[in-house]
Amino acid sequence: MALMDGKVGIVTGVANDRSIAWGIAKALHREGARITLSYQSSRLLKRIELLAAKINADFIEVDATDPEGMVRLATKAGHLGGIDFFVHAMAYADREALNGRFIDTKPEAFSEAMRISCYSLIEMVQVLESHLKPEASVLTLSFEGARRTFQNYNLMGAAKAALEASVRYLAVDLGNKNVRINALSAGAMRTVAGSAIGSARFTYQWLEKNTPLGRNPLLDEVGNSGLYLLSALSRGVTGEVHHADCGYNTVGMVCPKHDAPA
Ligand SMILES: NC(=O)c1ccc[n+]([C@@H]2O[C@H](COP(=O)([O-])OP(=O)(O)OC[C@H]3O[C@@H](n4cnc5c(N)ncnc54)[C@H](O)[C@@H]3O)[C@@H](O)[C@H]2O)c1
Repeated sequence: MALMDGKVGIVTGVANDRSIAWGIAKALHREGARITLSYQSSRLLKRIELLAAKINADFIEVDATDPEGMVRLATKAGHLGGIDFFVHAMAYADREALNGRFIDTKPEAFSEAMRISCYSLIEMVQVLESHLKPEASVLTLSFEGARRTFQNYNLMGAAKAALEASVRYLAVDLGNKNVRINALSAGAMRTVAGSAIGSARFTYQWLEKNTPLGRNPLLDEVGNSGLYLLSALSRGVTGEVHHADCGYNTVGMVCPKHDAPA
C-alpha cells in the first residue's frame, strides 16, 4: 500500500513544471494521492491542463485576492467530501520592491506582499477549516530570508517571517481539531517567483557554493520533504519550519571545501 493511498487534497501554486508545488504534487501522486490543483488565473490554464493530465488531477482557478476564488476553494473541498492535505505555495511582491534598499519599501507594496504571501494562508485555512479531515496536514512554503537577510529579498523576508509566525498560531487552532500545519523552507530554486528577486542568479550561485552539500536542492528532493510533512510519517510534527535547503540554514562560517580543487 502506498503512503497516500485514499488521501485527497488540494495543491495551490503550480505555474509550470519548475514550481515547487509541482514537485510536491508529483510526490503526492506517486504515493497514490488524489489531487486538485489550483492555479492563479486563466493565463496559466493551458499549462495547468497539460500538467494536471500527467497526475490525473482536476483543477480550479483561485486567485488569492479574489473572494470568489475562496468560495471555489471551499466548494471544491466540500465536493471532495473533505480533504486530507492542503498545500499553500504562493508569494508575490512588486519587482521594484525586490531590488535595492528595504528601507524604501512603499506601504502599497508591503500590504500587497503581505496579503498574497502571508494572509492568503490564514484566509485559505479559514475557508477550508470545516473541510479538513481529522489528521489532515497543511503545508506552506517559506525561505530562510524570513530569519536572516538575503540580498534584495527585502519585504518578502518580512512576509515570510509573518508567514512562519502564522504557522505557529494556526498550529494551535488546528491542533484542537487534530489537524497539523507546517512550513517547508526550501533552498534557492530556479522558478518564476525565485527569478523575481533582484540578482537571483547571483544568490542561486552563491548558495550553490556555500551549502554543506555544495549545491541547491532538486525539485524532487523538496517535493519529497513536502510529502513527509503532508503524510502520516510526520504525524507528531506541527507548527514547525522544516528546511530542505542542503543545510544552508545551519551554516555559520562558510567552509571553503567546495572551492578547493578535487
Ligand atoms: N524559488 C525559490 O527559491 C523558493 C525558495 C523557498 C520558498 N519559495 C516559495 O515557494 C512558493 C512557490 O514559489 P515557486 O518558487 O515554486 O515559484 P512559482 O512562480 O512556480 O510559484 C509561485 C506561485 O504563486 C502563485 N501566485 C502568485 N500570486 C498569486 C495570487 N494572487 N493568487 C494565487 N496564486 C498566486 C503563482 O501563480 C505561482 O503559481 C512561494 O511561496 C515561494 O516564496 C521559493
